[in-house]
Amino acid sequence: MKEIISKLAMEDCSYSYCPSKGLLETREFLAARNNTNGGPHISAEDIIFFNGLGDAITKVYGLLRSTARVITPSPTYTTHSSAEAAHAGMRPICYPLNPRNNWYPDLEELRNRVKYNPAVSGIPLVNPDNPTGAVYPVTVLKEIVAIAEDFDLFIIADEIYQNIVYNHHETKPLSAVIGEVPGISMKGISKELPWPGSRCGWIEVYNSQKDPHFAKYVESIVNAKMVEVCSTTLPQKAIPQVLLHPELESFLDGRRRRYERFSEIAYNSLKEVDGIITNRTNGAFYVTVVFEKDRLNPQQHLQIANKDVQSLVEKLCAAPGMEPDKRFVYYLIGAAGLCVVPLSSFNTDLQGFRFTLLEQNELKFRKAMETLAASMKEYLESAHTTEAHRKRAESPVADPEHGRRERSRRAQS
Ligand SMILES: Cc1ncc(COP(=O)(O)O)c(C=O)c1O
Repeated sequence: MKEIISKLAMEDCSYSYCPSKGLLETREFLAARNNTNGGPHISAEDIIFFNGLGDAITKVYGLLRSTARVITPSPTYTTHSSAEAAHAGMRPICYPLNPRNNWYPDLEELRNRVKYNPAVSGIPLVNPDNPTGAVYPVTVLKEIVAIAEDFDLFIIADEIYQNIVYNHHETKPLSAVIGEVPGISMKGISKELPWPGSRCGWIEVYNSQKDPHFAKYVESIVNAKMVEVCSTTLPQKAIPQVLLHPELESFLDGRRRRYERFSEIAYNSLKEVDGIITNRTNGAFYVTVVFEKDRLNPQQHLQIANKDVQSLVEKLCAAPGMEPDKRFVYYLIGAAGLCVVPLSSFNTDLQGFRFTLLEQNELKFRKAMETLAASMKEYLESAHTTEAHRKRAESPVADPEHGRRERSRRAQS
C-alpha cells in the first residue's frame, strides 16, 4: 500500500480536486464489483465519495426531510444514532438487537415500531455490526427488506466490515437481497485497509429511480456534495490498485483467521462469568458483553493498588448521573489497566461494555481476557462484601497490593 501511495504521491493529478461524486475510473471500478452480486445493476453515477464513512453518515441523515425519521438499531455505532437524532432534534427511534439471540434484530419489534411510527421512512442496519460483532444471516436481511417493502421504506446498510466475516458465518451484501427496494450501501476503506487516516468512504445507491421521493433525496445528497466541491482525491486514486493487489486476499485472510481465534479465546474466557451475557464474535472485530439486569450497583468496586489512581477513579465515579457500566469501566482501567467502552454509550439502555480483538500478540490477549474475566467476577461479587472491603480500605494496615495479587493468582490458576 505504501508503494502504491508513494508512486501516486509523485503524480500531479493526486493533488487536484476531483469530480464532486468522486473519480470516475474508481466509481466505475466499484460499480463493476457491485454488479457481480446478482442484485440491481448500478453505474458510476450511483456512487458518491465522502471524506470517510462517518462524513457520509452525517450528510445522508442530515439531508433527510426534516420530518422524516429512520429507525436505528440499538445498540449501534453512535454516529448513526447521533446523526439521525441531530437531524430530527429528537431522541433516536430504535429497534432492539437481542443479545440472547446472537445480537440479531428483534424483527417482530422492528415491524411493530415501523407500523406505529408513520414518520419512519428508512431502516439502517450495520452488517457486520459495530459494536456487537454480529453477522446477519441472509434470512434476517431478507426479512428487513420485506418490512421495508411492506411499509414503503428505504434501507441504509453500513457495510464497512463486509469483508471481515469469519467463524464459518455467511452473509450477503445488501445489493444481493434488496430486490426493487430503494437503498444505500455505505462502504469505506478504514477497516479493511490499514489506512483510516485517508478519510475515504462512499455510498452506493440502489433502485434510485424506483421511487421519486428517494430519487429527490439522492439528488439533494449530490447537490450538497457539489457545494463542498469533492472528497479527498489521493485515496480514491489508490483504491483500484490496492483492492486488486495480489497480496490483499492473503492479508485479509490472515486477519480473519486471527480474529476468529481471538473471538474464541474471548468467548471461552468470558462465558464462565456469572451475571453476564456474551456472544461469539463472527464479524468486524468487536466483542460486546452485557451485564444481566440489576447486577450492577454503586457499591461495587475493584481494588486499585495505586492510591492516586484509586482516588481519581472514585472521584470520577462520584459524578452525578454516572452510568453503572461506565463506573465499571473506570474501575477496570484503574485496577487492571484494561480499556473498554461502556455499552451505554452506544445508544442503548443495556449495561455492559465493548472491546476489540485488535491486539496482535496472542499471549497478551489471552492474559487480558483472563484478567477481564477475573475482574468482572471480583467486581460483581464485591457488592456482597462491601463492608469488609470498606474496613480493609480504612485499616491502617490495608494492603494495596492485595487486589492485584488476587487477580494474578486467579488468572494463573
Ligand atoms: C460501523 C461503522 N461505520 C462507519 C465507521 C466510520 O468509518 P470512517 O473511518 O470511514 O469514517 C465506523 C468506524 O468505526 C464504523 O464502525
